[in-house]
Amino acid sequence: MLNYSTSVVILAAGKGTRMHSNIPKALHLLAGKPMIQYVINTAKELNVKNIYLVYGHQGEILKKILKDEKLNWILQADQLGTGHAIQQVAPFLNDHEDILILYGDVPLISTDTLRRLQLEKIDKGIALLTMYLEEPFGYGRIIRKNGEIVGIIEQKNATKEQLEIKEINTGILLIGGRDLKRWLNAIINHQAEKKSEYYITDIIALASKQNCPIVAVHPYESIEARGVNNHFELAQLERFYQIKQAKNLLLSGVTLYDITRFDMRGRLEYGCDVIIDINVIIEGNVVIGNRVKIGIGCFIKNSIISDDSIIYSYSVIEDSYLGPRCRVGPFAHLRPNSKLEENSQVGNFVEIKNSYVGEGSKVGHLSYVGDAKIGENVNIGAGTVTCNYDGVKKHQTIIGDDVFIGSGTYLVAPVRVSSGVTIAAGTTILRDIPSIGLVYNEKKQIIHNNWNRKKKNKESEV
Ligand code: UD1
Ligand code: CA
Repeated sequence: MLNYSTSVVILAAGKGTRMHSNIPKALHLLAGKPMIQYVINTAKELNVKNIYLVYGHQGEILKKILKDEKLNWILQADQLGTGHAIQQVAPFLNDHEDILILYGDVPLISTDTLRRLQLEKIDKGIALLTMYLEEPFGYGRIIRKNGEIVGIIEQKNATKEQLEIKEINTGILLIGGRDLKRWLNAIINHQAEKKSEYYITDIIALASKQNCPIVAVHPYESIEARGVNNHFELAQLERFYQIKQAKNLLLSGVTLYDITRFDMRGRLEYGCDVIIDINVIIEGNVVIGNRVKIGIGCFIKNSIISDDSIIYSYSVIEDSYLGPRCRVGPFAHLRPNSKLEENSQVGNFVEIKNSYVGEGSKVGHLSYVGDAKIGENVNIGAGTVTCNYDGVKKHQTIIGDDVFIGSGTYLVAPVRVSSGVTIAAGTTILRDIPSIGLVYNEKKQIIHNNWNRKKKNKESEV
């Protein structure tokens, strides 16, 4: 826990011009979650006194998305730079508290690193988070004299020699409220792209001139302090983050066939000896049991998959439950609220929605099962459809145990089929089948022997 007399300022008013987007930069998604949400969660974990969020550009969208967060919203109507942004918060800050400055576009900063800032900060000093980058392009560079930090120079204002400096400003710093306010009053504006801008980074030179002790602290991992200014940097950060998550899974026993082709946009709970093939995406909260195998290109969202189940390639599973030893796919789609009991099977090109499939039952090929309850040991033939929608309302199909449904059957809901019934291929079921037996529609097969298919003549062919 950071000192309780610490408040956090999160900067998120910038236009994000380099994103070329109508969405505020801080709301762009990293592993499925808005970047700003990571920063807010970290700030909350620190248990600080107040969290101030500086907003401006498209602030209304930001407010809507973050409506459940306890934040002090500070408007920066004109985005005149990071220094100007903090000037907007200054009147609310206490002289005797420490202020931690975070950025809406530096999402992966960790609580451990921020605690380190606090430990290292000297009384009446500044703890500045810096790091060394082989490719420092775009970041402010740390200027040192005799080893001491004396200032920060922005990329666009740096000389050729300064651009060679590999120590960069992450933007994150911890400073006393009184000092911050004093130096904020003294920063001057820079003319940039036809408007004046005030840089928070300028307080470092002012502090240094007044012999304020400035300590540099480095993040535990460089990924924590990476800023996102454009889609390329966002894509890079996404991959760094995904590889980090993949590494954690691998180190705790999950097999991933390729760490660069795995995406987790949420949380995964897993058992022992789980195998995940390439291009699998996990979203929301997913639980997978022991010895589960997930094939190439599957998308699994908010679902539970029990022990020994196998999901074959290119299947989509959303808000569903699979009991043990189920087999799904390839190319199957389990839509929300589907429940497959133990040892059931859903095969190629089958869509299941809001349905229950009993133990040992099989829906093998090319079928649609919606709003249905299927008993145990049922076999549903290829191309069977539950006609659940009459154009106005959805209706239920109920099928008992040990039912055999031949291929190409239409079950027009609402309809009930009793246990043990056999339905012949190509039957349309319009009414309930209350007792055991064979059901089929009377149809005639007619053959016209004197019939010739029309043929295209050569000239009319295009
Ligand atoms: C800033 C730092 C740079 C540092 C880098 C780290 C300054 C002048 N430069 O540069 O030294 O290396 O971050 O990532 O501080 N913002 C506002 N209001 C504004 C302008 C920006 O709230 O008027 C917010 C943005 O929404 C963003 C953050 O401040 O969250 C940083 O702004 P950005 O324009 O991205 O600064 P950088 O060029 O990355
Ligand atoms: Ca930035």
